[in-house]
Amino acid sequence: MLLSGARWMSARRIATFVAVIFGAPLLAGAGGQEPQAERGERILNLSCASCHDLRPIDVRAQDADGWAKTIAAEIKRGAKLEPEEIPILRDYLAKAHGPLPDGPGKEIVLNICTQCHDLQRVRRQRTNAEGWGETLDAMLNEGAPLSEQDLPVVLRYLARNFGPIR
Ligand code: HEC
Ligand code: HEC
Repeated sequence: MLLSGARWMSARRIATFVAVIFGAPLLAGAGGQEPQAERGERILNLSCASCHDLRPIDVRAQDADGWAKTIAAEIKRGAKLEPEEIPILRDYLAKAHGPLPDGPGKEIVLNICTQCHDLQRVRRQRTNAEGWGETLDAMLNEGAPLSEQDLPVVLRYLARNFGPIR
């Protein structure tokens, strides 16, 4: 009894390990229709995280053209990508790490707000200065390293660019 229980546990553990290393879609089995977004993320994890971690990507925000240039430059640096993977990765990056409006506060958002989650979380929220003030308070409670000088700059940036949708 004990042994089969332990075996079951370790099989599960291995499955989890495989899912973490290779991405869950592989476990789902070949032949299934893997959504493009998941394919893009898998290509990113396989091709872009071997020389450095994903941090240099997290702190970049650019459109599809910008990402196409970055990918081309990284291929020159030695990144391995199949030709058909390039547009999938480009489109994924343009969506998950798309451009942010320019202005004071942008660099802080890129450097600080990507430390615990991606910018999709930030983009999805549309609210006024008061709402953003509450969010930033919550982020400070989570441990966001926002300095006293940076806080009002970020607040203004978010309220100006991610205000309520009219
Ligand atoms: C063969 C190694 C290698 C692979 C694979 C690789 N990179 Fe890089 N990357 C580098 C090096 C070297 C640098 C510059 C030094 C640094 O910042 O660590 C860099 C820097 C970057 C930067 C910072 C901007 C810059 O130009 O300095 C970005 C963004 C980036 N890589 C994206 C990617 C993406 C996207 C992929 C996958 C397509 C990728 N990298 C795969 C080696 C690699
Ligand atoms: C220290 C980690 C950390 C940092 C840094 C951080 N956040 Fe968060 N953020 C979180 C956590 C954890 C959640 C999820 C909270 C929850 O779901 O209750 C979150 C959620 C959010 C949400 C969604 C809130 C909601 O109600 O769904 C927004 C918007 C957000 N963060 C914005 C930001 C901005 C803007 C910054 C940069 C100033 C930032 N975060 C930096 C940890 C962080």
